Amino acid sequence: MKPLINLDLGEISYCIGKEALESSEKYLTSRSKRYILVDENTEKYCLPVFKTKLPGLPYHGVIRIPSGEENKNIDRCIYIWKKLTEMEADRDSLLINLGGGVISDIGGFVAATYKRGMAFINVPTTLLGQIDAAIGGKTGIDFLNYKNQVGLFTDPLAVIIDTVFLDTLDDIFWQSGYAELLKYGLIMDRDLWQMLSGKKYRKIKEWDPLIMKAAKDKVDIVRYDTQEKGIRKILNFGHTIGHSIETFYLNQGKPITHGQAVAAGMICESFLSSQLAELECHPQGEICDTIDLNFDRIELDEKDIPELLKLMKQDKKVRAGKFKFSLLRRLGKAIHDVEVDDELVIKALEFYIHQKKCS
Ligand SMILES: NC(=O)c1ccc[n+]([C@@H]2O[C@H](COP(=O)([O-])OP(=O)(O)OC[C@H]3O[C@@H](n4cnc5c(N)ncnc54)[C@H](O)[C@@H]3O)[C@@H](O)[C@H]2O)c1
Repeated sequence: MKPLINLDLGEISYCIGKEALESSEKYLTSRSKRYILVDENTEKYCLPVFKTKLPGLPYHGVIRIPSGEENKNIDRCIYIWKKLTEMEADRDSLLINLGGGVISDIGGFVAATYKRGMAFINVPTTLLGQIDAAIGGKTGIDFLNYKNQVGLFTDPLAVIIDTVFLDTLDDIFWQSGYAELLKYGLIMDRDLWQMLSGKKYRKIKEWDPLIMKAAKDKVDIVRYDTQEKGIRKILNFGHTIGHSIETFYLNQGKPITHGQAVAAGMICESFLSSQLAELECHPQGEICDTIDLNFDRIELDEKDIPELLKLMKQDKKVRAGKFKFSLLRRLGKAIHDVEVDDELVIKALEFYIHQKKCS
């Protein structure tokens, strides 16, 4: 049996599962010209698969940028806009973002701003892209050393999630996606959490149902709150502190993966949950144990805390200088807009740094 979910939600369609690509030809042929955005790895590993699965599909150009978060910036946007112009892409053209979260973030942003908007389709090729980054219409780039500082909400025509691409993904990027999978379990899907709790990501044999479940969890949230005014904010659990750690390392020229940073952020924010959101100590211990089983603690020192706080103040969840966190009330249930003062954030970071165990 082929696992496949087809969701036609009016403006945007989702096709999730094995052979999703073959089932999506109608979206890919819906515009007169097609351009494919790749990085050097997705050009090598994913583009041949894409072409083999859709042999008759004509396309008008491949645009390649170097891989990595350090390339999610305005210079790469300029390069892509230039290439689209040289290749005479017009408003009836389609940009196919074939890659991980970096490609869908920058590709969506470039497409939405090129000639005031050309259509794009996300074909995510990493675990993190398939269960998170490609879904929900958040696009953008890093700017002045702040993550996702410039961007917009703009929906792709379709998101095509075909797990065939994951065959060539490096271990470290499986691990990175695993952090987001754990997050869905924690914030909204207790059954999923119970499947993952105490497990190592490497030991999971059958990923397809988990990917479909997590991708569907995200679709279910973002379709009701496209602009992140309410419930969608719970997806930010682990990300306020996580993003500051990710940026802190990126600024030192030592990038860590998004998932490594979010895993650290989830430990800190589950500590906050235990202080403010009624999350009891026992589940907090279970959360830390499962994260620690899969992720080494990131090296941070108390002297790094002021810089981390400064980076956090640029977070889009800060209102009038106050942190608004998404926290856990219990396993499988998150709440949003919990105001947290600086002192408690510092305690959460100290908790992480000193590896204090929840007794
Ligand atoms: N827009 C959103 O809602 C959202 C949500 C979460 C994360 N993000 C963003 O996503 C980005 C991280 O995404 P990511 O983890 O996918 O990183 P990535 O896009 O950098 O991809 C990770 C690495 O895997 C390589 N790769 C991709 N697919 C491959 C494949 N099938 N086989 C072999 N190699 C492959 C890439 O070249 C890259 O080196 C961050 O910039 C983060 O901010 C966005």
